[in-house]
Amino acid sequence: MRQAGRYLPEYRSVRAEVPTFLDLCFDPVRAADVTLQPIERFGFDAAILFADILVVPHALGCVVAFVEGEGPRFDPIDAGGIARLNASGAVERLAPIMETVARVRASLDAGKSLIGFCGAPWTVATYMIAGRGTVDQAPARLFAAEDPETFARLIDVLVDVSADYLVAQLRAGADAVQVFDTWAGVLGEDDFEHWAIAPTAEIVRRVKAAVPAARVIGFPKGAGLRLERYVEATGVDGVSIDWTVPLAFARDRLQPRVAVQGNLDPMKLVVGGDALDRAVDHILASLGGGRFVFNLGHGILPQTPVANVARLVERVRAWRS
Ligand code: CP3
Repeated sequence: MRQAGRYLPEYRSVRAEVPTFLDLCFDPVRAADVTLQPIERFGFDAAILFADILVVPHALGCVVAFVEGEGPRFDPIDAGGIARLNASGAVERLAPIMETVARVRASLDAGKSLIGFCGAPWTVATYMIAGRGTVDQAPARLFAAEDPETFARLIDVLVDVSADYLVAQLRAGADAVQVFDTWAGVLGEDDFEHWAIAPTAEIVRRVKAAVPAARVIGFPKGAGLRLERYVEATGVDGVSIDWTVPLAFARDRLQPRVAVQGNLDPMKLVVGGDALDRAVDHILASLGGGRFVFNLGHGILPQTPVANVARLVERVRAWRS
């Protein structure tokens, strides 16, 4: 999940050197620097590439802006815009990000992993259709229900670019890649199959065809009970679980199949103290016996006290099953 960001003073100072958030994503020297900052400060075992899921629509020619305090904004795409989308050349426009990957891999200890990523087609499409983040992803759900054929074309383009982009990240030095489907949870049963599982399964298939040793992690946030089906049908090697997933379910139904990553409620990390310690211990006691990566259940919040992150790392490191 997100490691860098506004909770770190060293991130805020690098961020202040460039005009916009996207400038930072496309500046390999600075992006590599902020990717490594949390590793240098806390000694995590893995770094997550500093970039954003919305660089893919940017590479497809959508004009994306990150408005301070409001989040991403772009012109909503319509059926005509979808018909005109052209995946060719898109990954080439993301070349600075592959340079970031190479730079990070070159300065990261051999024993530490670098995780690349992209957004899942459904989640990226929700932003493209609405032109912004939305509470219930209603614009994309409506579009997909009204005109499934055009929506499928958008998803297909995103599958093409995302698969090539992940392959490029792996070739540049990423050790694993994660597919973030932040808004998978709002989809009904059939739509979850069509718009979350099928595109992710196709991305996993293409990535592994190009890079057989590739390791892919899926994060269908809010999928709940459907995580089991997601894991089976997509072919991911690992699954990230959000903080609402019951630990016994994760242990009994997911961990025998794949590695599990998660799932501390980011709010517990804001609060700290005993509440944090208890939540950490519960996760470790439940999942620590199997294939497991301790992580948050979603991205770190900007108001998180740095001292709480240090406390968390110390507690996880001291744990013995
Ligand atoms: O932490 C890291 O170093 C990893 C880099 C990373 C970012 N975004 C940087 C970022 C990753 C893995 C993401 C993924 C991402 N981006 C997702 C999927 C995962 C999730 O969090 O749900 C989504 C949905 C986005 C889209 C996005 N990017 C939104 C909605 C926002 C605005 C919300 C906010 O917190 O302001 C962003 C901005 C963003 N991307 C920030 C960072 C560090 C915050 C901007 C800043 O700190 O300058």
